[in-house]
Amino acid sequence: MSLSGRHILLGITGSIAAYKAAVLCRLLKGAGADVRVVMTPLAKQFITPLTMATLSKHPILVEFFNPENGEWNSHVSLGEWADCMLIAPATANTLAKMAHGIADNLLLTTYLSARCPVAVAPAMDLDMYAHTATQTNLQTLRERGVAIVEPAEGELASGLMGKGRMAEPAEILSFVEDLLSEKKKSLQGKRMIVTAGATIEAIDPVRFISNHSTGKMGYALADALARRGAEVTLISGRTTLPTPPSVRRIDVTSALQMYETALREFDAADGAVMCAAVADYTPEEVSPIKLKKGEGDMVIRLKRTHDIAAELGARKGARMLVGFALETDHEEAHAEEKLARKNFDFIVLNSLRDAGAGFGVDTNKVTLIDRNGRQELPLLSKRETAERIVDKIETILK
Ligand code: C5P
Repeated sequence: MSLSGRHILLGITGSIAAYKAAVLCRLLKGAGADVRVVMTPLAKQFITPLTMATLSKHPILVEFFNPENGEWNSHVSLGEWADCMLIAPATANTLAKMAHGIADNLLLTTYLSARCPVAVAPAMDLDMYAHTATQTNLQTLRERGVAIVEPAEGELASGLMGKGRMAEPAEILSFVEDLLSEKKKSLQGKRMIVTAGATIEAIDPVRFISNHSTGKMGYALADALARRGAEVTLISGRTTLPTPPSVRRIDVTSALQMYETALREFDAADGAVMCAAVADYTPEEVSPIKLKKGEGDMVIRLKRTHDIAAELGARKGARMLVGFALETDHEEAHAEEKLARKNFDFIVLNSLRDAGAGFGVDTNKVTLIDRNGRQELPLLSKRETAERIVDKIETILK
């Protein structure tokens, strides 16, 4: 049984979809899990504690303490007990409170103290789901490592059609199985470096040369590697993203700093993923004071920076090296040339000509190219793209 001996803390919030939590509980039990249920006060209006207690074979937890005898329901020990906290259905209200650290019921205090993986299955009306506030909250939770079981499109309780229907219990079960499966720890013991974000080359104390990279792809990769158990060092240029859980992050500014850090860290690593957008040129001289404007034009002389990827490629030995190529023309030819010249094991090609790929967006459309051929991936979230790239990394590291 896939969840044999695993402790699942099932959180239920006040949504019509709470009726599906009964089936979900049975499926989790059927897969071998021990299930305890924590409900928000409003959830009791949608499904009775008696139903959930009977199915889970444990008393239901709703209040901080039992009003009859004062017995305390410890959110800390619940969080410690759980191998996974699954909130299904998760309302817009609960998701908002989770994103902002509000702790006004037992389900939320338990979430805040849980150290285990947390998954949520949103359920709400299409407009609530599409609202910027909800999407921003979901993004915040995603960036903090909460796994999200995407809602489906279909008929909603309001009678409207659209996205917001909670995923079916069978789908949520397989999501949780995946989350807890050994696959997630398949890179245990491997040390990986990821470079990400944009470098900054100072012209003077005020101005600099940089690029549009936001670091999203590199951060998603660092996160995906860490979730599978790798020890990840993220060498990061400029970005506004939070550090993924369990990742060691070293902030750098210039291409030279990134070069020195990457070279030092590569010694003890099993591999590196070069995702950063590194400046190829830097001002020959950096003015220590702010440059004043004059009447005429100005010329800034630039000199080449180190090609970090190529330097690591030259000394990589048995280590693994993955590169990226962002191209605007003759994409495959350029990528193949870089694959060979920088001695990558494979290269991830994205073209700025593809809709949904490129700077700042949450999706990407890439082709993985190695010496044996190419694998074109569809348009996917950067998170899903990272999973596919890490699948390939895994086959090489094994
Ligand atoms: O040559 P190009 O910049 O297109 O190569 C892209 C690949 O090389 C990426 O993996 C990028 O992170 C890496 N790179 C690097 N150092 C540079 C330039 C690019 O590591 N100075």
